[in-house]
Amino acid sequence: MGFFQQMFQEHRKTKIIVFVLLFSISLTGFFRLNQSRIAELEDLVESIIQSYVISSADGISVGYFQWDEMYDSIIAMDDSFLDHYTHDILSTFPVVDEIETINAPFDGSAFYKFRSENQELYLYFGIFDSSTELYIEDMLIRMKFNPSNLLKQVLVSNKLNFTIVINDGDSIENIQISSNEKTLSFFHFISAFFLGFLGILLSHTIKKYSISSHYEIEGLANIVMLLSKKDAYTAEHSKDVARYAETIAKSLGMNRKQQKTLEKAGYLHDIGKIGISESILNKTGRLEKEEFDEIKKHSTIGYEIVSQFPNLNEVAIIVKHHHELLDGKGYPDGLMGDEIPFSSQILAVADVYSAMTTDRPYRKGYTGKATFEIMEGMSLNQELVALLKQNVTH
Ligand SMILES: [Fe+2]
Repeated sequence: MGFFQQMFQEHRKTKIIVFVLLFSISLTGFFRLNQSRIAELEDLVESIIQSYVISSADGISVGYFQWDEMYDSIIAMDDSFLDHYTHDILSTFPVVDEIETINAPFDGSAFYKFRSENQELYLYFGIFDSSTELYIEDMLIRMKFNPSNLLKQVLVSNKLNFTIVINDGDSIENIQISSNEKTLSFFHFISAFFLGFLGILLSHTIKKYSISSHYEIEGLANIVMLLSKKDAYTAEHSKDVARYAETIAKSLGMNRKQQKTLEKAGYLHDIGKIGISESILNKTGRLEKEEFDEIKKHSTIGYEIVSQFPNLNEVAIIVKHHHELLDGKGYPDGLMGDEIPFSSQILAVADVYSAMTTDRPYRKGYTGKATFEIMEGMSLNQELVALLKQNVTH
């Protein structure tokens, strides 16, 4: 079955839940984010438009209607003067749409006033002389402002879609901006879909990995069981080596993963003995050279077995070199000093300590104290020997 096919067929219900959950969480997240982004933009555009309108109004008032010449020409009913400057205003201020003169009472309390009606914004300018002490009491200049011109031409590019809403009233605050932006776009739906899909992929991979590592450990346990039927001593000794190796790793401050790797290497270090004849393994008398050469093969055989498990490559290397000695007289490769993987040096110390302190049919185990005395004269990493000596518990 293909990977994807398998991914959707196994645990279908869980996967649908994972998908729906991630899809809706991401969609809600996108919605909220976009909503607040749009609200911020609306506020920003609104205040830009409002201040632009105010500064245009100030400019128009100061520039044209607080001016003796304009004041005098209107009093003198000289329409051509006003007409000329009306044209000038319309071309200078894109925000101004229409200008007309209206007859209405004016009390001089402000230079101009806002008034919005029927969604249109009007500004009423009083006509003052240059000192702003005199003003015309029965006339105003009414201008229709159209901030949309500004929005279209100057401020916002086509990428953003805003409209101006003008509420009735006489304050600049009545100019409001609302966005036509959609809070969720097609792109957000696609992204949420892929996040949901990624969730399924992830849960599938985690599940697959945990299943495979479960079988891996199960498989190793079975192999060790097989070995214990053949060679009870080795199986028992392996547990001790695992414990001592872990003790050294822990006192070196190695992380949990490295400690576990060494523990596994301890369990498996002599697994290669499964390929050595029982008569040699259980021989109590002195071994002939050929027999010893046969036994020496166990570290390489062990490496070959353990390296079959893809996740145990590191363990396999530790196993391969657990009989190397610092002076190069160990096996299988006769590595010297730092050439020997550090974890194998740890395992070697744990191995020797366990072997010497354990009772065998042909001799009693040495005491811890005597064992360390002997080990201190051996070609082992002495810092590790000292660490084990400090930390070992029987
Ligand atoms: Fe060994």
